[in-house]
Amino acid sequence: MRDLTVLGIETSCDETAAAVVRGRAPGPGQILSNVIFSQIEAHKPYGGVVPEIAARAHVERIDAIVEEALTAAGATLGDLDAVAATAGPGLIGGVMVGLTTAKALALAASKPLVAVNHLEAHALTARLTEGAEFPYLLLLISGGHCQLLGVEDVGRYRLYGTTIDDAVGEAFDKVAKLIGLPYPGGPQIETLAAGGKAKAYALPRPLLGRAGADFSFSGLKTAVRLIADAGNVDAAGLAASFQAAVVDILTDRTSAAMKRFRSDFPDAKTPALVVAGGVAANAAIGSALRTLTAREGFQIKIPPPRLCTDNAAMIAWTGVEYGQRGLFDALGVSPKARWPLAGTPARGE
Ligand code: KG4
Ligand code: ZN
Repeated sequence: MRDLTVLGIETSCDETAAAVVRGRAPGPGQILSNVIFSQIEAHKPYGGVVPEIAARAHVERIDAIVEEALTAAGATLGDLDAVAATAGPGLIGGVMVGLTTAKALALAASKPLVAVNHLEAHALTARLTEGAEFPYLLLLISGGHCQLLGVEDVGRYRLYGTTIDDAVGEAFDKVAKLIGLPYPGGPQIETLAAGGKAKAYALPRPLLGRAGADFSFSGLKTAVRLIADAGNVDAAGLAASFQAAVVDILTDRTSAAMKRFRSDFPDAKTPALVVAGGVAANAAIGSALRTLTAREGFQIKIPPPRLCTDNAAMIAWTGVEYGQRGLFDALGVSPKARWPLAGTPARGE
């Protein structure tokens, strides 16, 4: 197998991003450029991402961002082996902008197209960064997703657990709003929690110890709201208590998924737990997961924050993985608002 050079485009949420990556499976790959424009400022007044504002901002920026990514990589369209773009899941207006741009570039330069599943790109990032070998267990924790998956191969995933209500990042953001902190709330809560007592408030830990590996955060969020509404709040204590509850929920559910993974893949001696998504930047969560993996005989791999949050390098890398397997998409491929990773047949089968 030879190295492939792929341009990746990401527009599924509030980051407009383009990157050029070069490499081959199983990685690591070389990130030649990684340009990200965050729309956080545009959404801040609303306390969350507004789909119409996001789609318009993507349209305004995408051409310049792609240009910048190619220039920074010292590449022209002619140097590429493929063009990859997020085709879902995500906010449909934004996904359409990125996918349409990728189709136009692929057509103009006569390059093949890879329509990337955004969740799969998060799942494969540990191969881009450190050549993680299959199979591994993935904990994907972001503002939009909260899942535990067995990653068997490209296109082959087993869903062990998912949230039955909010994603964990969403819970961080909502709790931050209740305490009066700006969006995005995760980093703010983490900073505030550092100066508070985790036992300041007794908060529920939904689904703890239950069968399966699903998550639930709405009961926890409601408990925080009741405390905030009552007034006279110890904000640092509430942030610390909330974060401690999240840590307990994530470690309990991950530990349950580890048992499923062990029985599905008995030959994997020291498999990796890969943690991805914006919430993976949280140091308290990272340290609790380190303790868990050490106890359970797993390695732990947490990509650097810049590659844990939404970015286009992971999209380009997924393009490399599919390109090497000769799996390309027709230019007529449609964007998808919903596109679960597991539970649907793998592509190419
Ligand atoms: O992966 P990401 O950039 O975007 C998607 O949602 O796909 O994740 C953003 C989420 C936000 O909810 C943000 O509050 C959360 O990740 N986050 C954190 C931290 N940094 C970002 N949550 C907790 N602690 C952090 N340090
Ligand atoms: Zn994401």
